[in-house]
Amino acid sequence: MNRQDLSPDRQKRLVPVEAHPGALALIPPPIPQEISMRGVERDTMAAHEALSKAQSVAAHLPNPDLITRTLSRREAVQSSNIEGTQSEIGDVMEFESTGDAEGLPADVTITLNYVKALDTGLAEVRKHGAAALNTSMIQTLHRELMQGTDYRDVPGEFRQTQNWIGGLRIYDARFVPPPPAYMAELLADLERHLNYQPEGNAFLSIVARMAMAHAQFETIHPFRDGNGRVGRLLMPLMLAAEGYPPVYLAGFLKSNQRLYYDSLLNVQLQGKWTEWVSFLSQAVVVSCNESIQIANALLAMRNAWEQKLSHTRRDSSSRKLANLLIGYPVMTVNRASELLEVSFVAANNAIRDLVNQGILSEPQSARNRVFVARDVIDLLNQPTSNE
Ligand SMILES: Nc1ncnc2c1ncn2[C@@H]1O[C@H](COP(=O)(O)OP(=O)(O)O)[C@@H](O)[C@H]1O
Ligand SMILES: [Mg+2]
Repeated sequence: MNRQDLSPDRQKRLVPVEAHPGALALIPPPIPQEISMRGVERDTMAAHEALSKAQSVAAHLPNPDLITRTLSRREAVQSSNIEGTQSEIGDVMEFESTGDAEGLPADVTITLNYVKALDTGLAEVRKHGAAALNTSMIQTLHRELMQGTDYRDVPGEFRQTQNWIGGLRIYDARFVPPPPAYMAELLADLERHLNYQPEGNAFLSIVARMAMAHAQFETIHPFRDGNGRVGRLLMPLMLAAEGYPPVYLAGFLKSNQRLYYDSLLNVQLQGKWTEWVSFLSQAVVVSCNESIQIANALLAMRNAWEQKLSHTRRDSSSRKLANLLIGYPVMTVNRASELLEVSFVAANNAIRDLVNQGILSEPQSARNRVFVARDVIDLLNQPTSNE
């Protein structure tokens, strides 16, 4: 981070870093009340249209819980992937259905923590609306995310040391966030923005607010690690607090990772908010369309399975199980027996039926006998388009 790369107003906000002589940190300005939308009105309008469409599709889904379940796990995998956490959705779902991480990538537990944090956050905003989006929520999300990992600080506690982004030494950093002493005030400002109530005509759209909250959070970088993920969790939570479906952006951010990081840096060094909001608006459009497409593809699969099982009774365990697979594509006999509330033998028979119909595939290993609906996993593994 070089002084000359910063806009003049930001150069004035540089402060020395105590522990590193000669290094400078930036105290970012509070989130602006207004930003110029000139030239990007169309992008934000498109984002709002996409959100409304997603909202109406979500309201008409026959089984929203199963689809949301699947989409939130896909988000956990993609958001964690941005940070180099390697696990696939099939692994995460296998771990969830067996509780056994043996033979799976070590990162499955971290990814599952993301799912838990997201679930906790969604439950809170659905109960309390935007009021739930405060500093303590940020700490809760972080605590759940880092629970049981080798995180070096206390999960959920804000950092007490200087950190930096990119580069092995602070002197080579891409960006140096504010020293810990300045964080409380910046977080309080962020909190006011997160549970913002529109006043008069100083109305900022939810898309702009969400973009600004994410960027400011990433700029404060209040934890030693996990900032990217906590900041990405805040966005669907803000949407859900406004009654929108929690649209998941990590796929787009991953497919445009370079641009994502560069756009953040331009906000940090130059206050380029307008471009950033435009970028996030595109993310919203692509992500809404993608979620709708995935939901439709899942429903089509379910219908095709219904057809294959049309010879069985409508209330047969096999049919009921097939209906669950779009939310639980990795199945064990125990899990099927729990979900269907039938005996182990009955669950086993239903699974057999689905294997015979080519809906589930046979277990790959004898250790945990997991049966997989490959069609679902393959669909979820497809990367997000980058435009
Ligand atoms: N200038 C920047 N360049 C790149 N990433 C940045 C920048 N400013 C903030 N970030 C954020 O930092 C995140 C990485 O921070 P980190 O604490 O390691 O999060 P996590 O462990 O969740 O990866 C990135 O995903 C990005 O959101
Ligand atoms: Mg990290």
